[in-house]
Amino acid sequence: MPHRCPWYLGYVLLNPLRRLLQRPARLLAPYVRPGFRVLEPGPGMGYFTLELARLAGPAGKVHVVDIEPRMLAALGRRAKSAGCADRIDMRLAPERGLGVADLAGEIDFVLAFAVVHELDDAAAFFVEAASSMKPGARLLMAEPTGHVSGTLFARECAAAEAAGLVLMERRDIWRSHAAVFVRT
Ligand SMILES: C[S@@+](CC[C@H](N)C(=O)[O-])C[C@H]1O[C@@H](n2cnc3c(N)ncnc32)[C@H](O)[C@@H]1O
Repeated sequence: MPHRCPWYLGYVLLNPLRRLLQRPARLLAPYVRPGFRVLEPGPGMGYFTLELARLAGPAGKVHVVDIEPRMLAALGRRAKSAGCADRIDMRLAPERGLGVADLAGEIDFVLAFAVVHELDDAAAFFVEAASSMKPGARLLMAEPTGHVSGTLFARECAAAEAAGLVLMERRDIWRSHAAVFVRT
């Protein structure tokens, strides 16, 4: 069973120092345009979600799926005070998978930040994520170097490619292995 981030660490992930080293706006701006539909599995308390909602704009939507209700509750409060709750569709993860069959072929961008190593079945995750994506949509996966070895990250990348995603580029993100894939 993979290690799962305890809910209270959600607060640690929001710490202001992280903003200096993993800047949401700079990191996400190349991938999200106004009107985009975004899927974010494992958003935690929404460190990236509010920026995704800002970039997607009033015509866009960010669909988040987390297994921990307390992460979603805090995310909901933060979204409300940022005035973007209406752009965020919050979903509690079902027992298996993400529960996003209704989004098949609708998604323009997937952000999987520090989550794939926590999932029971990374291969099934990439199949589900790929089937939610439009042709040409991109997926950014970042994994923490503290928890994920280079070998494990290579296996995760192979699982993404087995699901039909094509590796476009590696990204340089602080204390992370990171890669961008495209659905062809
Ligand atoms: C390390 S946190 C990363 C949070 C956020 N992406 C960030 O970078 O700040 C991992 C998140 O994935 C969630 N998670 C773990 N297993 C999951 C699953 N099977 N489905 C959806 N979310 C899951 C955890 O509850 C947690 O919120």
